[in-house]
Amino acid sequence: MLRLRLTFAALVLAALLGSITSSKAQSPWGEGYLPNVPVISQNGEIFKFYEDLVKEKTVVISFIFTSCRDICPIVTARLAQVQDILGDKVGREIFFLSISVDPVVDTPEKLRDYASAFGVGRGWTFLTGKPEDMHLIRNKLGERIRGLSDHSNTLLLYNDRTSEWSKDSPFSDINSIAINIKSMNPDSVRVHDEQARSAPSASASLNSVTDLSTAAGLPGQHLFIKTCAACHTVGRGIKIGPDLLDISSRRPKDWIVRYLVDPQKMRAEGDPAALDLAARYPAVRMPTLSLSENDAADLTSYIAALSYGARADQQVGHAHSGHDHH
Ligand code: HEC
Repeated sequence: MLRLRLTFAALVLAALLGSITSSKAQSPWGEGYLPNVPVISQNGEIFKFYEDLVKEKTVVISFIFTSCRDICPIVTARLAQVQDILGDKVGREIFFLSISVDPVVDTPEKLRDYASAFGVGRGWTFLTGKPEDMHLIRNKLGERIRGLSDHSNTLLLYNDRTSEWSKDSPFSDINSIAINIKSMNPDSVRVHDEQARSAPSASASLNSVTDLSTAAGLPGQHLFIKTCAACHTVGRGIKIGPDLLDISSRRPKDWIVRYLVDPQKMRAEGDPAALDLAARYPAVRMPTLSLSENDAADLTSYIAALSYGARADQQVGHAHSGHDHH
């Protein structure tokens, strides 16, 4: 509580400083358009929104709130995949900003837990602040998005040096999101494209689990890649949620289907396994994705197929790995 009060005192101070030093607009969309209000990061640092976080940078802006239980955690999870593809460009040329639309609840501590649950790296700042300041930022950016109703599902791309705006859906193909982001920097895009062609991309390794299934277009596959792979692996360890390897042998099939259809309901009903999972993964909830039972069944079989593939891959992997070369 004390910490929170200090935080707000600091914000008020920063707000005062901000009003003293704020200067005139230069570009039509940057300074003067984007508020220069004080915001506070997941690490408790105070920034001036425009000057410190946007000015002369390329930014990828998303809107979040940590208590969201349906679609929005996926936005962050998918952005984390995009960050992996962009690698060390994030934090150098490109900066990710995730802005809380629920600043009263989303304290810096909550944002820090949230960010670490998604394994976010350098150059990605989660922001909260005084409600009226956050509202101002959101409104200004909302004008760019046109229609705030889809705020949580839109990525806003902006290059302050060129004053160019663009937007993308977090549900587009991860590689194409990364390319769109890179193309915001006209001078760097050619080089990067060359690199992208020659180097195996991070997404390839992220998705290689799914590539294990040689039969492309299995039922459930598309859904899995689009909505589950951001948070789960099959046989490659815990990501944001548990490793789903052999889930069908660890849980009754009808439990899995019910869980996929409505995990929130199962927690509300006090299902012991669902509650135990929630306790083990406190920062992020498995979202309720409005899946049909058919989708859930397709997904379950697809995960079983991946588990089988992952086991086979482990055997092949052993044969190829350095440990076993003699
Ligand atoms: C935003 C991240 C996220 C997304 C997207 C997501 N999950 Fe989860 N999932 C979790 C977390 C976290 C848990 C741990 C339980 C909890 O949240 O209460 C979980 C739990 C599970 C479990 C139970 C695992 C066990 O060990 O019993 C299954 C099965 C599962 N998810 C499958 C899926 C499938 C299939 C999809 C895609 C349709 C999916 N999840 C999408 C985060 C996610």
